[in-house]
Amino acid sequence: MLRTLRRNLVHRPINKLHRDYDAWLGIDNTIRLSKAINRLLHGGEQRRYDRAYREQFDALLAENGPLLDGAAPRNTMRDGWAIDRSGTLPGIAELLKDTAPLIETRGGLTEEEAQAEKKPFFYSLFEKDDLHRFPSFMDFVLSSEVIATVAHHMGTIPVLSRTRPPGVRFMESNEAYNPNPGGPPQQSQNFHLDIHDRPVVYVIVLLRDTTEESGPWHFLPASASERAAKALDYQKRGQPYRITDEQMYAVADPDDVIRFTGPAGSVLFIESGRCFHYGSRKAIIPRYQMMYGFTTVCRGDLTELVSQGQQHPSAASDATLRKMVLRHE
Ligand SMILES: [Fe+2]
Repeated sequence: MLRTLRRNLVHRPINKLHRDYDAWLGIDNTIRLSKAINRLLHGGEQRRYDRAYREQFDALLAENGPLLDGAAPRNTMRDGWAIDRSGTLPGIAELLKDTAPLIETRGGLTEEEAQAEKKPFFYSLFEKDDLHRFPSFMDFVLSSEVIATVAHHMGTIPVLSRTRPPGVRFMESNEAYNPNPGGPPQQSQNFHLDIHDRPVVYVIVLLRDTTEESGPWHFLPASASERAAKALDYQKRGQPYRITDEQMYAVADPDDVIRFTGPAGSVLFIESGRCFHYGSRKAIIPRYQMMYGFTTVCRGDLTELVSQGQQHPSAASDATLRKMVLRHE
């Protein structure tokens, strides 16, 4: 009885709100409404995270682990993004070592899997117990270097997403399984802004060398994206979520587009809700990435009300900052 009520009164409207956002309220209004509801539910927690960032962040970082260069993280996001191609961020070597054999054994799709995939050009290699089996998956993204870069951009302590996107993704892009090779870009192969929160930040790690032939992430910096969004009336009611190249380049300069190519171990930090982006186009040489998603406590969607999402392991002995990012205090 209670479960049916919950399904009809909570799950169905929320699922409809997010499924039909463009036609129903519009993306912008849906995000605003969701954030307002989440503020009612979690406003106190958000204020605590904001205060901890303002007043105790250095101490929290010190407990979590040292920064490479002392007081400030090596990377600062400017105009919505930063790229580190050094391959030397803490935990990167372990991540590459752990994922290399998994790519060999899990990469590619069977014919049956390719048919079942919604996006057969971009799919998950992640398995349920990976976070327990491979601590490197979490240790990199919860290092002080990564958290500090993201937190300084957000102005608060970030939260590793559990619902959409799952906080930790291990992904392959491969043109070999594209059901419509040479056809127009599909779904996330078109420009869009992510809608999970404002701000929402992705941290993406290249697990193998990635060139133009691997369908790299393409993105516009935040300032160019903001101008384009305004010109397109983007996220207003009735406006589409995906933007074709033709539509985008009518209002944006193709020379402003940045491509996330580089050697294995390169890292992109990006506010994906402010920087238009697409990826996985014509990945002739398959692309392998870890993709991490951070939001604030009060997300811009209501997915936490309908799903528990990905479970992130933690231990009682974990540093306070790590527990806060995982909301495991
Ligand atoms: Fe996206």
